[in-house]
Amino acid sequence: MTPPTIRLTVNGTAHDVGAAPDTPLLYVLRNDLALNGPKYGCGLGECGACTVLIDDRAARSCVIPIDGCIDREITTLEGLGSRDHPDAVQQAFIAEQAAQCGYCLNGMIMTTKALLNINPQPSLDEIRAALRYNLCRCGAHVEILRAVMRAAGHTFRAIGG
Ligand code: FES
Repeated sequence: MTPPTIRLTVNGTAHDVGAAPDTPLLYVLRNDLALNGPKYGCGLGECGACTVLIDDRAARSCVIPIDGCIDREITTLEGLGSRDHPDAVQQAFIAEQAAQCGYCLNGMIMTTKALLNINPQPSLDEIRAALRYNLCRCGAHVEILRAVMRAAGHTFRAIGG
């Protein structure tokens, strides 16, 4: 049987996707739309690697069915900036070299975007709270915090350097 068509708006473009309504958004983004910024980590909503913005709020796309995304604005990492013109948060992560393997970066950057959308100048404690459920197995947390502080326009004395 042919799956139903569901219209998703991703990075400002409408896409008619033929997939079962309970298909996780992450699968459609990666497999149907070739948007590979969001990563498959745990598949259980626990690691944050798959984070996207839905109506400007951070959401874990591995556990959100596509029929929950109808009439919502979905933004992926690709929607923030380009290689030549990275977004301010992406620039901050580059400047602080806030990656080792890089697998968590999508989630860290998208969660930072969501935080700055509602709180443009978060404190270090607020940044820690916002990112506490985004896992980084490499232990690059200090650099990540510095990048978020930079993106928020802070200096870095509170976390060294
Ligand atoms: Fe979605 Fe881990 S892959 S939270």
